[in-house]
Amino acid sequence: MPAPAPLGVFDSGFGGLTIFKRVRELLPDYDYVYLGDNARAPYGQRSFEVVLRFTQECVDHLFALGCPLVVIACNTASAKALRSIQQRHLPAAFPDRRVLGVIRPTVEAIAGHTRTGQVAVWATPGTVRSESFPLEIAHHAPGVRLTQQACPLLVPLVEAGELEGPGLDHFISKYWQETAARAAAAGAAPDLLLLACTHYPLIQPRIRALVPPGVALLAQDALVAPSLADYLRRHPDMDRRLSRGGSCRYLTTDVADHFDRLAEVFLGQPVASEKLAL
Ligand code: DGL
Repeated sequence: MPAPAPLGVFDSGFGGLTIFKRVRELLPDYDYVYLGDNARAPYGQRSFEVVLRFTQECVDHLFALGCPLVVIACNTASAKALRSIQQRHLPAAFPDRRVLGVIRPTVEAIAGHTRTGQVAVWATPGTVRSESFPLEIAHHAPGVRLTQQACPLLVPLVEAGELEGPGLDHFISKYWQETAARAAAAGAAPDLLLLACTHYPLIQPRIRALVPPGVALLAQDALVAPSLADYLRRHPDMDRRLSRGGSCRYLTTDVADHFDRLAEVFLGQPVASEKLAL
């Protein structure tokens, strides 16, 4: 049996840090490797083939570092690549490794956060096009009715560090107006806005300020971390394969300085990342 190794967390860029922060708060004893593919972010407008290739390369890198378990802390990659990796790549190449995504834990929890069952979902164009949320909702929360809204410019703004200002406010207001109009046309009035992109919690204060107060906001960090803790309780064999030391290594495919600066803002503590050439 190989020596215990860190838990891997992957995102196209900075967004996964919102999930990772909560995971680390809840499960502080484990060792972690966070990998952000900042050089190739955003993934949101890319094709299935490209998102699958990029995601698989990053997951394979985390496997090469020994990670027995990788969390894909990105909706776009979960929507477009997770199923292929779980169903084809792992059985063929890494039968003893596991990869988890963020869509399933979100969908399993969503019904508990809406009174009316009418939910607006903001996500990248790729996540919306994949129809992953409606498909998973149909299985796991059939009473919930979704109004999906693609928000193509929010991730590029976050990746550029634009976490406030009139440019950001303009696009948040525009996306809410489009969401409300689409919901109204379908006879719906959402009481919940699901932030189905791990980058969006970073601009949640501005979203909260601009979306009507009667609409609650739900981010995935509060859902994914407890779901991971539950997974580890239910899979003691996997839990034993994860090392404990409370350490965290940060890898980025772009320059380390840029990652360190923004990651420190998101995590509230200094970060010293390493540049990874893929
Ligand atoms: N953080 C990713 C998500 O949750 C968005 C990423 C991107 O477009 O790269 O969908």
